[in-house]
Amino acid sequence: MSKVPVLVTGGAGYIGSHAVLALRDAGWDVAVIDDLSTGNKALVPAGVPFILGSVADRPLVESLLRERGIGAIMHFAGSIVVPESIEQPLDYYRNNTLASLELAGAAVAAGVKHFLFSSTAAVYGEAERVPIREEDRTEPINPYGASKLMTERMLADAAAAHPFNFGALRYFNVAGADPAGRSGQAGKGSTHLIKVAVEAATGKRDSIAVFGGDYPTPDGTCVRDYIHVSDLAAAHVAALEWLIANPDENLVLNCGYGRGHSVLEVLDAVDRLTNLPLKRVMQGRRAGDPAELVSSNARIVETLEWSPRLADIDTIVGDALAWERKLPLPPAS
Ligand code: UFG
Repeated sequence: MSKVPVLVTGGAGYIGSHAVLALRDAGWDVAVIDDLSTGNKALVPAGVPFILGSVADRPLVESLLRERGIGAIMHFAGSIVVPESIEQPLDYYRNNTLASLELAGAAVAAGVKHFLFSSTAAVYGEAERVPIREEDRTEPINPYGASKLMTERMLADAAAAHPFNFGALRYFNVAGADPAGRSGQAGKGSTHLIKVAVEAATGKRDSIAVFGGDYPTPDGTCVRDYIHVSDLAAAHVAALEWLIANPDENLVLNCGYGRGHSVLEVLDAVDRLTNLPLKRVMQGRRAGDPAELVSSNARIVETLEWSPRLADIDTIVGDALAWERKLPLPPAS
């Protein structure tokens, strides 16, 4: 398998920046495009070419792809907040679906051969069964999931008509931070459980809300499949290698560990690591939260040269905590 130059969109964001690190660590030539609407340039490693701009800027992207001889795109740029997608659906179709359309168009025009797309477990909507398999029903219940599913479909149709292949990686609950402390979740106003919990553990919040204690789960709180962001980044590198080795085939893969943790189990892990119990405030259910979302990861484990390395919940929370203690970031050079 020969390596090709890779363009990472959204490479200054949380997951994208970890993918940049994983690619660099494995010896790939990487460039980043990001409009810094939510990303932070300080997360892009020194020496990685950085282009400030939108993936929907077709002339910019097309010339970038040609000038750099890009052979593969990892597309992370997009909007990711489910409640916001319900309030501003058209923004989500613009930022996720239309921007991806422009990017795919530029990729086809410039002869890019491989396209890896950040998709989400939100494409499934209400799961018909747990663990969720890739062939299960996809019926998103919010515009965020719909905007991602439409992009998956668009890429599948484009891959059938043009000489490129694609992978859609459907993430479950991404958390943690680079174990070496080079990146992590830096954005403000996050609503994600582990981010909020480590903010509380480092004194940035007084308490943590537990949304719902009456779900049909073992301890009454919601169960999720938390995946370490660095394992997820490694899965992207493995998926890219697979796309290069199998140019006539595409990939649709769940990214999770196939096991769930409840909200209380996550908070117990935080307490264990800090030796200081978080103040938990039991609240009512949050709208739109399914009781249990756990992946089947059989397909990714069978298909890729990848296996979970950082799956322990204490590792995930510990890395998130270590990163949180380093914030705020110094200004980017
Ligand atoms: N939770 C709390 N307190 C908090 C924050 C979250 O109890 O302060 C609970 C939620 O109610 C939920 C669980 O923790 O039960 C996980 O919530 P997150 O907000 O961390 O994550 P979600 O499962 O809601 O969302 C994730 C991704 C979305 C994706 C979705 C797929 O963040 O991008 O999974 O279903 F769309």
